[in-house]
Amino acid sequence: MTKPLSGKTIILGISGGIAAYKAATLCSRLAGLGASVRVIMTEGATKFITPLTLQTISRHPVATDVFDERDASIVQHIDWADAADLVVVAPATANILSKMANGLADDMLSTTLLAVTAPVLVAPAMNVHMWEHPAVIDNVNKLASRGVTFVEPGTGQLACGYVGKGRLAEPDEIAEAVAAMLAGPKPLAGRRVLITAGGTLERIDPVRYITNDSSGKMGFAFAEAARDWGADVTLVYGKTDGVPPEGIQAVRVESAEQMKDAVMSRAAEADIVIKSAAVADYRPLHQEEHKMKKKSDTLTLELVRNPDILQTIGEWREKQAGKRVPVVIGFAAETMELERNALDKLARKKCDYIVANNVTQAGAGFGTDTNIVSIYGTGGFAEHLPRMPKKAVAQRVLELAAAKIGTERA
Ligand code: C5P
Repeated sequence: MTKPLSGKTIILGISGGIAAYKAATLCSRLAGLGASVRVIMTEGATKFITPLTLQTISRHPVATDVFDERDASIVQHIDWADAADLVVVAPATANILSKMANGLADDMLSTTLLAVTAPVLVAPAMNVHMWEHPAVIDNVNKLASRGVTFVEPGTGQLACGYVGKGRLAEPDEIAEAVAAMLAGPKPLAGRRVLITAGGTLERIDPVRYITNDSSGKMGFAFAEAARDWGADVTLVYGKTDGVPPEGIQAVRVESAEQMKDAVMSRAAEADIVIKSAAVADYRPLHQEEHKMKKKSDTLTLELVRNPDILQTIGEWREKQAGKRVPVVIGFAAETMELERNALDKLARKKCDYIVANNVTQAGAGFGTDTNIVSIYGTGGFAEHLPRMPKKAVAQRVLELAAAKIGTERA
């Protein structure tokens, strides 16, 4: 099951009020919802609760000092600010509200808050008279007018002995507000998306094999994008450089034949099939049981054709007259004659779209985080996209696929 905050990075800023101890529960809730939580504590906060507590719950080092740069390859407050999908300051004291409203940057939290472009959620906690002070009211209004969202304090017994407004909202309420702010559009809610990624690996003997340069990044980007849009994602993946994203069902395979079985047994249930894996066209005719010994000066390996999985799906689909069938997207990684090869594959493999890229171009193809693709579809559809992150390519292709679900196919 996809967790609501899977794939999201949240900065939890804790400032120095007694309610700081409740930030541990909030951190645990956010992590439980699937978020990667990076905690920043003010010096005051560390007087109420230890960084070790938050480090243990968040499973990441806690930042307290803007000058404590441990990794020379990054500037930490900028790096964290850039990585954040949202910042939540809980509890927010009158002091941090004032710093935020006035743009002060005198510690790790206030400095990071200035560098952040992601949405900011603030859960204040303070004495009732402080909360009602005109200076605090001005600061809150100023921040709200800049787009900061507030989870208002609750009313009740305050730590200082007063009864009134000023209690930190309950951690569950703050976590719900975070999840609501990060819930984007879910155009694939209730849809099943089957994705293949990476290269296949065809064994020669127990220690040798034939494979290709596919990194799996394009397929992983599809899996993330489909998951973020609410789809139930199954990722069938072969040899890759990375770890599959969280919040999806990942099925590891090795050879083209294993990939075919994993895909064909799931195709009928899918609404969209994305074939971004680089499948080996041939495999050794024999797989030796034991490691081959060197003998003669030359060695000839006899190879046989692998099944073409995409074509198998295309042909299977044609035979499903009247039944619900998935939208099918294929890939064409080419080094020449991109358009001609892509259109040939579109027709021969009977898919709805072919995503074509010239793998010799800088910023495209295997191993990179970006891609430069042209999308060709049935009925003469052609779209040429500029160089863009693989996830953005995936979103555009998924948009096209989503629009085609349930439409009549020729
Ligand atoms: O023919 P070519 O290998 O260039 O086609 C690429 C497309 O076909 C990709 O979508 C790839 O996943 C798919 N394919 C396949 N089975 C094969 C070879 C390619 O599904 N044996």
